[in-house]
Amino acid sequence: MDKNINLETIDEVRAEALRELQDISSLSKLDEWRVSYLGRNGSLTNILRKLGSVPLENRRQIGATANQAKLLLEEKLDHHRNLLANAKTSSESEDDVLDVTLPGWPLSNGNLHPSTKMLREITKAFSSMGFQVQEGPEIEWDRYNFDLLNIPSDHPARDMWDTLWLDYTDKHGNTPMLLRTHTSPMQARIMENAKPPIRVLVPGKCYRYEATDSTHEWQFFQVEGLAIGEGITFAELKGTLYEFVRCIFGDERKIRFRCDFFPFVEPGVDMSISNFVDPETGKRPIDYNQDWIEILGAGMVHPNVLKNIGYDPDVYSGFAFGMGVERIAMLKYGIDDIRLFYSNDLRFLEQF
Ligand code: DAH
Repeated sequence: MDKNINLETIDEVRAEALRELQDISSLSKLDEWRVSYLGRNGSLTNILRKLGSVPLENRRQIGATANQAKLLLEEKLDHHRNLLANAKTSSESEDDVLDVTLPGWPLSNGNLHPSTKMLREITKAFSSMGFQVQEGPEIEWDRYNFDLLNIPSDHPARDMWDTLWLDYTDKHGNTPMLLRTHTSPMQARIMENAKPPIRVLVPGKCYRYEATDSTHEWQFFQVEGLAIGEGITFAELKGTLYEFVRCIFGDERKIRFRCDFFPFVEPGVDMSISNFVDPETGKRPIDYNQDWIEILGAGMVHPNVLKNIGYDPDVYSGFAFGMGVERIAMLKYGIDDIRLFYSNDLRFLEQF
């Protein structure tokens, strides 16, 4: 009888194989394991091959045990292979094989946010009229956001802007810093640092302490315009804004000016354009009942503002205007809820 083959050796080989199998975590190691036990020269294969030399009286029992061990190991092999295949991720696996026949992942290109797109269109329209673009800080001093713009701290007009104040107190106990409520503070900053003639456009984010609804957001973009020089009149303001509306909305929209009050301009106006009519349905998706929609505030720069900066109002005059970018986009594209701009819903964003 071959001394090497008895029930014990088979048990040992089987137990050793199962123990090793537990620690195997890659397909290549698993294949090495298969070769060492079940391969052509594997330890279990060798046992089976030598069965013929086992004495007849033991052969049946030893043969049956060896065959059972083989079946068991084959079964465990399959099971383990499935486990590894399921757990396999491309980063973990050493057997990472690139299957070039698989279809690729679709890559989406992304696109500009509608506010950014609108902002660029507006900037382009005014650039063509000689306005330079300048940005300013979103965290602003009370002085620029209000005082220099003819809105002193006791002025009731401050109620027009619900302000988010910053948690910073100066040595007088005041909280003089805020998130700018409009882009108008840049009027003062620009005048302080430049000499007329000035023609500047200021795009930027603004913030207000207010509840949101379909026409109000606590964060939004504005664009401010400022032109200062000698002998600038209201006619130039009108001409500039007419051209702007034509660039953005085309020739069909009508324009209307009405008197309005803003502390930093005199006279002050608001400008409306005729409502958007959806060309497909013939309906107005926004402010259904209104013929006119207000899109911006404007006016001739107030003499007090010029004086605050140190400009002589008898020599210099100018105009200013400010508009909400999302509002313009809503009117241009027929969007009926401003909250869509900041809710990150791809179904909305992908349409632009
Ligand atoms: N800053 C104003 C607002 O946020 C808009 C505005 C009105 C800006 C009149 C101007 C202006 O420059 O002349 O409501």
